[in-house]
Amino acid sequence: MERKATNIHWHEGDITKTDRERLHNHKGVCIWFTGLSGSGKSTLAVEAQNILYEMGAHTYILDGDNIRHGLNKDLGFSPEDRKENIRRIGEVAKLFVDAGIIVMTAFISPYREDRDAVRKLLAEGDFIEVYVQCDLEVCEQRDPKGLYKKARAGEIPEFTGISAPYEEPTNPELIIDTAQNTDAKANARKVVDYLLEHGYLNINKNEKANFS
Ligand code: ADX
Repeated sequence: MERKATNIHWHEGDITKTDRERLHNHKGVCIWFTGLSGSGKSTLAVEAQNILYEMGAHTYILDGDNIRHGLNKDLGFSPEDRKENIRRIGEVAKLFVDAGIIVMTAFISPYREDRDAVRKLLAEGDFIEVYVQCDLEVCEQRDPKGLYKKARAGEIPEFTGISAPYEEPTNPELIIDTAQNTDAKANARKVVDYLLEHGYLNINKNEKANFS
């Protein structure tokens, strides 16, 4: 999207992202959960947050249904509105990452192009795409909000998986199949293990604290 304002200047503070990360003892990173409605994105984010909280990590969850009550309440579900939804969330996620926080986003984010735009917005390694895979039939059986039933009855237009597309990630960092693996806690553990294995957590372990 084009920037409208002119005569604006970026202002840097004295404390950097790296300083904040050192303080938190983990990297600031965006874990981007994508998948069909009912695939388990929010559950996974909540469970991962529980584990990370116990580990002393600073986390926050941005959730589709919640954000659409406030920041994005002017947006619907047309392809253009979904694009703008994801663009704004990408920008918000970028701020959280800069704040040195582990931000987890739970949006269907059905379009590959929109997800890739967020990936590009963030620095290399700051975007972890997690495909929460679940067959449409299983999501439809779960139907936690009764929306698939309504969509099948023609009461919700442009419903993802029924009358609007979902484009699977081609190269996600992680795939969690919630139809095959139904233990949400174990699935969340895989996300945390990814962070551990890739050096996002315990970043001060080999350093002396620098706050004398
Ligand atoms: S996204 O496609 O723009 O990423 P988002 O994750 O914000 O969607 O919102 C999806 C949630 O909105 C769903 O979990 C569901 O509860 C609700 N919803 C309402 N209408 C639709 C629709 N037409 N398609 C998909 N989800 C919908």
